Amino acid sequence: MDRFLTPDDLGKALRQDVADGLGTRPRTLPAKWFYDERGSELFEEITRLEEYYPTRREREILAARAPEIAEATGAVTLMELGAGSGEKTRMLLEALGGTLRTYMPVDVSGDFLARAAERIAEDHPGLRVRPVVADHERHLALLPGGERRLVVFLGGTIGNMAPAERVAFLSALRATMNDGDALLLGADLVKDERRLVRAYDDARGVTAEFNRNVLNVLNRELGADFVPERFEHVAVWNPGDEWIEMRLRSVAPQVVRVPAVDLEVEFDEGEEMRTEISAKFRRDRLDAEAGAAGLRIDHWWTDPDGDFSLSLLRPA
Ligand code: SAH
Ligand code: AVI
Repeated sequence: MDRFLTPDDLGKALRQDVADGLGTRPRTLPAKWFYDERGSELFEEITRLEEYYPTRREREILAARAPEIAEATGAVTLMELGAGSGEKTRMLLEALGGTLRTYMPVDVSGDFLARAAERIAEDHPGLRVRPVVADHERHLALLPGGERRLVVFLGGTIGNMAPAERVAFLSALRATMNDGDALLLGADLVKDERRLVRAYDDARGVTAEFNRNVLNVLNRELGADFVPERFEHVAVWNPGDEWIEMRLRSVAPQVVRVPAVDLEVEFDEGEEMRTEISAKFRRDRLDAEAGAAGLRIDHWWTDPDGDFSLSLLRPA
């Protein structure tokens, strides 16, 4: 497996993010640190929850449109960012059977990625499956290119970046693309607030466990002494920014030590630390952000209820 991120690099990036995010108020942590082995498994469990509609909706769109996507791209290389289990991508691998030679799933969650890639390779003996451990916010320029490349970024993970980060990410990606390349982008859409909040605060508490798992990551990797039960899961809709915020709320005044970055972090009772944003889109916002990055939306598909979108972008 190719690695642009060694365990040492990951440790360094985590220390920097924790020093920056916990060293000042309001306290924040980047969402990418949810995904150790357990976090990746918990995310897979979330995708099966009745309340969490995005995965189902995106799968419906892919089932309906995979042949059209194959026809429009004729991709020889499929590079998938934030691939996770790659389960939905199987529909594309099948539809692209006539042209596709290489599948390159990219993720920060290395062991989970390696196992997912093995399963896909077993099911597609003729395909070259080449998993890469990398941070797609930092390493896009280092990733190998390929002939007639389709870059796939599913699940709505683009919404886990802030607007400025999204444009920086799309611009960096655009810079690696040739004229015949395309980007297939999954993005969740603005909808009724109650449905949105339910999707991020499920009855069984799986999302709460996923949220608190980031504290286990900090305990293991940085020797921190968070007691996860002392933090409550919070999911709120921010109507101004049109994103869901996940937070962890301290249930009591407490001090947490993070020896690897030499921090003692005080939390007041009720103080909240933001652990994720999950932006929801409208077509005009995606058009504008794509345009700012030198891309244009060539195809736009949604499920019949208009819950989720899949778009095919090309260099403008
Ligand atoms: N694409 C899958 C998984 C989405 S979960 C789906 O649609 O179901 C988000 C995935 O992105 C996780 O596997 C996580 O490890 C990965 N990820 C998050 N931030 C990342 C980053 N900066 N670089 C690479 N992978 C990242
Ligand atoms: C990966 N990403 C798109 C998910 C989302 O919906 O923002 C992560 C997630 N967070 C809570 N539930 C799922």
